[in-house]
Amino acid sequence: MVKICCIGAGYVGGPTMAVIAYKCPNIEVVVVDISVPRISAWNSDRLPIYEPGLDDVVKHCRGKNLFFSTDVEKHVFEADIVFVSVNTPTKTSGLGAGKAADLTYWESAARMIADVSKSDKIVVEKSTVPVKTAEAIEKILTHNSKGINYQILSNPEFLAEGTAIQDLFNPDRVLIGGRETPEGYKSVKALKDVYSHWVSEDRILTTNLWSAELSKLAANAFLAQRISSVNAMSALCEATGADVSQVAYAVGTDSRIGPKFLNASVGFGGSCFQKDILNLVYICECNGLPEVAEYWKQVIKINDYQKSRFVNRMVSSMFNTIANKKVSILGFAFKKDTGDTRETPAIDVCQGLLGDKAQLSIYDPQVMEDQIQRDLSMNKFDWDHPLHLQPMSPTTKKKVHCVWDTYEATKDAHAVCILTEWDEFKKLDFQRIYDNMQKPAYVFDGRNVVDANKLREIGFIVYSIGKPLDAWLNDIPVVA
Ligand code: NAD
Ligand code: UDX
Repeated sequence: MVKICCIGAGYVGGPTMAVIAYKCPNIEVVVVDISVPRISAWNSDRLPIYEPGLDDVVKHCRGKNLFFSTDVEKHVFEADIVFVSVNTPTKTSGLGAGKAADLTYWESAARMIADVSKSDKIVVEKSTVPVKTAEAIEKILTHNSKGINYQILSNPEFLAEGTAIQDLFNPDRVLIGGRETPEGYKSVKALKDVYSHWVSEDRILTTNLWSAELSKLAANAFLAQRISSVNAMSALCEATGADVSQVAYAVGTDSRIGPKFLNASVGFGGSCFQKDILNLVYICECNGLPEVAEYWKQVIKINDYQKSRFVNRMVSSMFNTIANKKVSILGFAFKKDTGDTRETPAIDVCQGLLGDKAQLSIYDPQVMEDQIQRDLSMNKFDWDHPLHLQPMSPTTKKKVHCVWDTYEATKDAHAVCILTEWDEFKKLDFQRIYDNMQKPAYVFDGRNVVDANKLREIGFIVYSIGKPLDAWLNDIPVVA
């Protein structure tokens, strides 16, 4: 029986390994992590992450050929293939701070593999890493090899949260990069054999190591760029009376462009896009390509602009003061069908509103109060450093209330602000919400989920991203 061990039981390690175990009953898969609470949760009835379909997959194989353990060294020692799926956050200090990837967690995992191994191993980069990381890892492993043969592969993960199980069951492609040597080809074939259990041959792409590493950063940059492109258009739509959904549809029906990832929004969030683009920018700068670096930086600048534009629109619409006004925030996760709040645009929007002294009442069906309070007290980039717990700011705590019911969140509020496209927000009783709000009652829809015309009939003043403006909002200049 082939034995797989995956270091890192997070959003990627957990679901990917659960699906490998599900699809390959002849393979034993152990997911290990240094975090005791995370592993306990994976072994419990309440998994540490919310992901549609994940519970069933885990329940089906846990205890049979899928195991979760904190005994990292034992399982690495026993494995034939070791996946490394640890976090690769943005550096918060030192050289490249605010841009470069922090490979501390990666390097410590690699050193541990070198320490405990007594047999040949294939080491698979699952984490998203800067191009050429495999070379550094190879050096760490071979300099401590004690005669053991290591083959390093790059097998970046393309799943999106909220649809992870679907993406893993039916991936657009699986990408495997390896050394172009006989041993390299052999190890690529070994990993290919794992995926071949359920992915057709034509969807398993093999490349050299550097192409695989760079393709992951490139794919995320391209996806984020589409969102920034449509968001840039949304500002122009608001200024001209065009409707961004109609523009996106018209543009996306061109088969060369395609319809996906053209939804205008309050801005993209999530643990990957910003981090990976910053990383790409840093790599370009290090390779003497400042023009290319500048080009990709714009994607993030437009995303930041979109978030601050949204906050400014809210404040200026409400007579330029929201001090002590109750604002109801619906949705805090970075997208629907996940409880993940990493880099969610809700953090910037809420911090912007708190900066103008609003009182926030926040509802999200999957995010706990503790998480929200911590997110709103944290410094930029700190979220991806798991051992780093920021003290919570008492002022933030007093100004932010989290509730478990939309109608309570919106009661007596001056404004409702939708920041995540949860399906349940489309079905709300907006007449009831309106009746219990202060007047004028505003809805600021950062995800274009509500029917603005229906809400206007009820009496709301509605702002939808990139849509023709209410007469009320039309005359108010917004400073970005
Ligand atoms: P995560 O923070 O959810 O999980 C990482 C886990 O690694 C943590 O539980 C941490 O405790 C553990 N860890 C860190 N160092 C360790 C060590 N030395 N030994 C054992 N465990 C260790 O991160 P994630 O979202 O799963 O992302 C992991 C990687 O995958 C990142 O590089 C990310 O960029 C990439 N990625 C993420 C996504 C996504 O949607 N989240 C998608 C594709 C790729
Ligand atoms: C992304 C990539 O899609 C995935 O391939 C990679 O492996 C990890 O990073 P993820 O961040 O989980 O996945 O979700 P994604 O669906 O890409 O959404 C990212 C952000 O963009 C979310 O905040 C989402 O709301 C936003 N978005 C997405 C838009 O604003 N408009 C769109 O049209 C699509």
